[in-house]
Amino acid sequence: MSHIPVLLKESINSLKIKSNGIYIDATYGCGGHTKLILSKLGNYGRIYAVDCDIKTILKHKIIDDRIIYLNDNFSNLKSILNTKIGKIDGILFDLGISSFQLNNSQRGFSYMSNGPLDMRINQRTKETAFNLLKNINEKKLSEILKKYGEEKYHKKIAYYIKKYIIHKKLNNTQDLSNLICSINKNNKFKHPAKRSFQAIRIFLNKETKELKKALKNSLKLLKKGGILSIISFHSIEDRIVKYFIKKHSILYKKSIYHKLPLTEIEINNFYKKEKKQLKIINRIFPSKKEIFKNPRSRSATLRIAEKI
Ligand SMILES: C[S@@+](CC[C@H](N)C(=O)[O-])C[C@H]1O[C@@H](n2cnc3c(N)ncnc32)[C@H](O)[C@@H]1O
Repeated sequence: MSHIPVLLKESINSLKIKSNGIYIDATYGCGGHTKLILSKLGNYGRIYAVDCDIKTILKHKIIDDRIIYLNDNFSNLKSILNTKIGKIDGILFDLGISSFQLNNSQRGFSYMSNGPLDMRINQRTKETAFNLLKNINEKKLSEILKKYGEEKYHKKIAYYIKKYIIHKKLNNTQDLSNLICSINKNNKFKHPAKRSFQAIRIFLNKETKELKKALKNSLKLLKKGGILSIISFHSIEDRIVKYFIKKHSILYKKSIYHKLPLTEIEINNFYKKEKKQLKIINRIFPSKKEIFKNPRSRSATLRIAEKI
């Protein structure tokens, strides 16, 4: 099944595309969102299409002079950062992985099909999920399953993963999925392996760290009135996005600093540093119709903020 872009109209409408604007699609994927941005851009508009997975870019490349492809981590937008600080009209993040990646069993993301325990989004990085599971200690693994998967059976799953891997009984995604299913037999609503696969993928690809760094850089890149639109798919990502936007939308009160033993100049400097940088615009969920057409969208949340 090909990738269906999630919250497509809602996210692109939120960017309020200007004909000659400069945009960043930080998660190009199969180009679904970029395509719609392009249809609204004039001849002088530009879009930076970023993806750390070169195979994804090569497979879904749209030939158009208005697109500049960047095969890099979205946390590391050096070439854009060097020249475009305060110049970008809108940045879109559609986090996670695409159906193109999930459905390719050789990438190791799926608990439904068999493949190597890989799970690297950027295949130029060295460590695979198999290496991670082999080298990590049981306690740390248990913490990862709890922190990034909110997995109830984190201790038991970590114990058996380590036991099986030592006895060479854990060699592929099917082994891992079967092992977790044998521990958690009662989950009627979600696949029992969903949470653990998510946790291992997030930790292996340093997804939370990269997202935090990318959000900080986005704030530098956006011009006044520029829009930040972020689609996340699970509570761990969404929490990071929510707190980032909240943190930068709060106006710190001068009175806080008046209680400190500071001079008026120091107080004003503090005040300037902590000034409000974002305005919360909206939070949007997929409609029932979208969830029916594309079940992958059911856990999506779109958060929109404007640089002020
Ligand atoms: C959900 S898909 C995007 C789908 C795209 N919006 C579309 O409609 O076709 C997420 C994409 O982000 C990429 N990605 C994930 N983490 C990344 C990171 N830290 N840096 C750059 N790209 C990343 C993945 O490789 C994947 O192709």
